[in-house]
Amino acid sequence: MERDFWHRRWHEGRIGFHEGRVNPMLARYLDRLSLAPGARIFLPLCGKSFDLGWLRARGFHPVGAELSGIAIGQLFDEMGLTPRVTAAGPLKRHAAGGVEVFEGDIFDLTAATLGPVDAVFDRAALVALPEAMRAGYAAHVGTITGRAPQLLVTFVYDQAAMEGPPFSVRGPEIAALYGADYTIERLDDREVPGGLKGVIPARAETWLMRARA
Ligand SMILES: C[S@@+](CC[C@H](N)C(=O)[O-])C[C@H]1O[C@@H](n2cnc3c(N)ncnc32)[C@H](O)[C@@H]1O
Repeated sequence: MERDFWHRRWHEGRIGFHEGRVNPMLARYLDRLSLAPGARIFLPLCGKSFDLGWLRARGFHPVGAELSGIAIGQLFDEMGLTPRVTAAGPLKRHAAGGVEVFEGDIFDLTAATLGPVDAVFDRAALVALPEAMRAGYAAHVGTITGRAPQLLVTFVYDQAAMEGPPFSVRGPEIAALYGADYTIERLDDREVPGGLKGVIPARAETWLMRARA
């Protein structure tokens, strides 16, 4: 997916992917990550997700990566925070109140710039990317987070019925993308109420992945 595609979406306010509530799978399965208070949780391709504010309210440190400055501006505004913005190599780091977001292309984010990560929450990130980008994305997130455990939410539907994003990513692809580096457990599999975009029957699957020893 081209960067311009996402910049245009934010510019035009076409953000149907924004849930406007905490992701129910995060709320339900966060405990499975067994995180210590104050843990740093990375949310790749974070948009202006309410998940960051929710994690912050629970004493964690959410760290996002997001292409769109518009999204990041709205994210901090909606949390009532004014971020300090500093240069971080080719990216910009926005930080306030224990929340950090790196503005720019996630593929330009290095482990050194990101800093230590205790866990990853991926909602609408892997599935936002076309198939050709997914292997590079999965490997990159693994590398920059030191293979921290991940909670991953995906969609499964008939790809012929809709172009995506979000794309349909099935279990065998999850195994191919992550199975060499992580053990993979499917925690949840449920129907998307009303379907994707209100029309396409779909299931949401939630995965817990831990680095192999
Ligand atoms: C489908 S949205 C999901 C946003 C968020 N995870 C949520 O649940 O609302 C995907 C987001 O990824 C951002 N994005 C796309 N490609 C990116 C990239 N290469 N680097 C950083 N962010 C990117 C887009 O701007 C968009 O906000």
